[in-house]
Amino acid sequence: MLPFIRKDLAQLTAYTPHPGAASGESVPSKSAIDRLDTNECPYDLPAELKQKLAWNYQQLIETNRYPDGGHAALKEAIAQYVNESIAESIHVPPLSKGGLHVPPLSKGGLHVPPLSKGGLGGVIPPKTAITADNISVGNGSDELIRSLLIATCLGAVGSILVANPTFSMYGIIAQTLGIPVVSVPRKPDTFEMDIEEAKRAILSEGCANAQTENPPVRVVFVVHPNSPTANALTTNEIEWLSTLPEDILVVIDEAYFEFSQNTLAGKLQEHPNWIILRTFSKAFRLASMRVGYAIANPELTAALEKIRLPYNLPAFSQLAAEFALAQRQLLLAVIPETISERAKLIAALTQHQQLQIWPSAANFVYLRVKADNRNLAEQQHKQIMEQLKAEGTLIRHTGGGLRITVGSPQENQRTCDRLSQILT
Ligand SMILES: Cc1ncc(COP(=O)(O)O)c(C=O)c1O
Repeated sequence: MLPFIRKDLAQLTAYTPHPGAASGESVPSKSAIDRLDTNECPYDLPAELKQKLAWNYQQLIETNRYPDGGHAALKEAIAQYVNESIAESIHVPPLSKGGLHVPPLSKGGLHVPPLSKGGLGGVIPPKTAITADNISVGNGSDELIRSLLIATCLGAVGSILVANPTFSMYGIIAQTLGIPVVSVPRKPDTFEMDIEEAKRAILSEGCANAQTENPPVRVVFVVHPNSPTANALTTNEIEWLSTLPEDILVVIDEAYFEFSQNTLAGKLQEHPNWIILRTFSKAFRLASMRVGYAIANPELTAALEKIRLPYNLPAFSQLAAEFALAQRQLLLAVIPETISERAKLIAALTQHQQLQIWPSAANFVYLRVKADNRNLAEQQHKQIMEQLKAEGTLIRHTGGGLRITVGSPQENQRTCDRLSQILT
């Protein structure tokens, strides 16, 4: 190891990009590859939109100039979209006094308001509406996670708390910064986090005479709905998050919000210590562009702005994200298909007695092989994943189970057929 490199980095390995094999070799498959391991939308941007984007690129972007380092136009567009999402959110648990008023859900699930230039698509913004000052934009929400960790815990001042299994990047990024990660379990039947354990962990890390040498918990990370287990936060969990003191930051990652239509953005007003992360990588079909955003009170977004690199988001990515928002009615129109495909996939998988399948509020499904012996089950998960890969379907083996992205109807049919062959 080079003598000037931090010693603790020797324990870490570089992130292995997916899709692909762990060793990076090409996937040995007999047929077309169905990439159902990274929870992207199965569809590229429609060709005519790509053409318009390319035309805009040619006309608007001067490649010799730095991009808009303040993301002004994009932040405005995001704020407008967030306001719509608050107004349309389903199943928002009762608000305590003084919170934002959330109108009742429109019938028929997902409602994408008609596009209107500058307006709010027919939705009246509440007085406490989100503005560009509430938004910070990152090179993927991964960048925002790192900025948050730098802003809160760096320099041995804080630890983070996660409930496993959950999105791995919180722990991975924390480790690269030398920030301790405290993990608590989830209930095995529902994947609700073990709140009592979480309370204990926060108390014990905060005690001067604690057994651990970790600094106190400064950040709690939750995902709504969680990856890989696909469950939305419960009322219990939300209530507990609401009780956390102001010196603990609550990060609510809504990467899969468009599939659950259930956001906590309407509660940010009540909780200055909450922040919501979202991404353009999933429902908006822009994983290749690396655009994520945070929604929080302006003091918090200002802290993120201090930490981020000056021109963190290429001009083309900003343009693509603005473009996707302007065309959201078209792009999000496939979500009902994803949701009905998800139901079909769950129904087909449930036919296999040896599998336990969980309900999903996201664009993926989580399952485990039923077994008393978890090691044995894990071996079987690995085998199933490898066998599916050999047949041309990539899925994720993670968190003690298997996560399968809901793909196109054809991909999902192939997944079901291939799984049936493997399991029977
Ligand atoms: C829960 C969660 N948060 C964040 C991300 C990363 O998003 P981005 O592509 O914006 O970095 C992912 C990607 O899979 C995710 O599952």
